[in-house]
Amino acid sequence: MYSNENFSPELSECYKIMERIRGRIGGLGLKYFIETYGCQMNEHDSEKIAGMLENCGYSKAESKQDADFILFNTCCVREHAEKRTFGNVGFIKELKQQNPRLLLAVCGCMMQQKEVAKRLYDRFPFVDLIFGTHELKNFPDMLEKLLDEQRLFRVSDSEGEVIEGLPVKRNPGFSTFVNIMYGCNNFCTYCIVPYVRGRERSRKPEDIIEEVRRVALDGYTEVTLLGQNVNSYRYGDVDFPKLLRMVHDSVSELPRIRFMTSHPKDLSDGLIEAMAELPRVCKHIHLPVQSGSDRILKLMNRRYTREKYLQLIDKLREKVPNVEITTDIIVGFPSETEEDYEATCELVKKVGYSNAYTFAYSPREGTVAAKMDEQIPEDIKKLRLNKLNAVLAETIPANNEKYIGFEGEILVEGVDRRGEPLLFGKLSNFKMVYVEGSEELIGSLVRVKVDGYRFNSLFGHIIRETEA
Ligand code: 5AD
Ligand code: SF4
Repeated sequence: MYSNENFSPELSECYKIMERIRGRIGGLGLKYFIETYGCQMNEHDSEKIAGMLENCGYSKAESKQDADFILFNTCCVREHAEKRTFGNVGFIKELKQQNPRLLLAVCGCMMQQKEVAKRLYDRFPFVDLIFGTHELKNFPDMLEKLLDEQRLFRVSDSEGEVIEGLPVKRNPGFSTFVNIMYGCNNFCTYCIVPYVRGRERSRKPEDIIEEVRRVALDGYTEVTLLGQNVNSYRYGDVDFPKLLRMVHDSVSELPRIRFMTSHPKDLSDGLIEAMAELPRVCKHIHLPVQSGSDRILKLMNRRYTREKYLQLIDKLREKVPNVEITTDIIVGFPSETEEDYEATCELVKKVGYSNAYTFAYSPREGTVAAKMDEQIPEDIKKLRLNKLNAVLAETIPANNEKYIGFEGEILVEGVDRRGEPLLFGKLSNFKMVYVEGSEELIGSLVRVKVDGYRFNSLFGHIIRETEA
């Protein structure tokens, strides 16, 4: 957890309220429980809310049953998450009967969809607070009002802003996230994110560097710089490659720097050069392709062609030694023909991804694609998804052959006890490697040699410990 002494007046007020709450409930031993859905952005928001709750005197509960404050941080990017959220919230009614001082809040992207949020608020009178994605800094104020037994609905239409200096309670481990920007301006036609996360806004380089330095000092070994589209980061004359160089050079004690997500349309030569040149920047790029068909890419408003994408892959492979590429793919986008779909499968075979997240297109209310004619029937989407996954199940292991005899460094993350206990950790390029070794190595960088593989994982042995 950290707090910044150079607050804006608005943030000073925020800390004052937290202090007031701490004075009021600090001695009561109250506990919180946060359940997070969706992406790293949401995970990180939850860490910020946890930071504020701890500043207010709450401590973390082991389960919902143990908690005096429960928060659901929701997602609406894919699937029909609504039903699940309504179910989860409904379940809390009983807990509230058992613990009358229990407070229940729901936030996140789904709550930024006002109609959904309103429906939830009306249907469950025992929900104490609903807030959207632009309200984080108002959380202490909202909490204080809840403690005064007010019921609140706070979903604003703000375009979003950048708030610095909120406390953060990071999940324990060796790897953590630092936001470099918020929101998205791309309006891919299938995607709800620009509607629920607001316009693109970049943090000041100094604030980012300061936070990265702090987490390195706190003992984290790996930081992932986070944004919906990190390649469109810009603050004054600092673009993303320049930011990466600044972070790399300013925080020399941090062994690993990752970043995600990269949009192919903005991936510059400058970034490829920075990846190639900076030793502590990891040699992995998550580069969602979404489709291998030019016609579908156009309908998706992705603003690159299959050929341009393949050229980028070639350039990355040529310039960045041992680089690995992962991706996101959507099948069953409106009007997708068998031919379009086959073009995606062909592209997957051609690129040789080290991993891929595959999704059946799911219409999101309010997006352009949801209104398109020729929506694809669910059973066809499912069939295409299964077939694509089968293609990946062949191409991913094939990509591993080249690793036999490979030597590199892994950051040991933990022990896998499914069979013979094995340490596991990732290479700089995000490939997972399993090795025999002492648990004391968890959290350190060790040098390994690869002897074999299974699906997307590699197996090897430790050849020599390195200083972390
Ligand atoms: N349907 C299916 N997948 C989607 N994604 C985003 N929106 C949708 C949608 N409506 C996927 C994209 C994106 C990832 C985070 O989620 O592949 O890259
Ligand atoms: Fe969504 Fe496209 Fe923005 Fe990614 S770049 S968050 S897919 S709109």
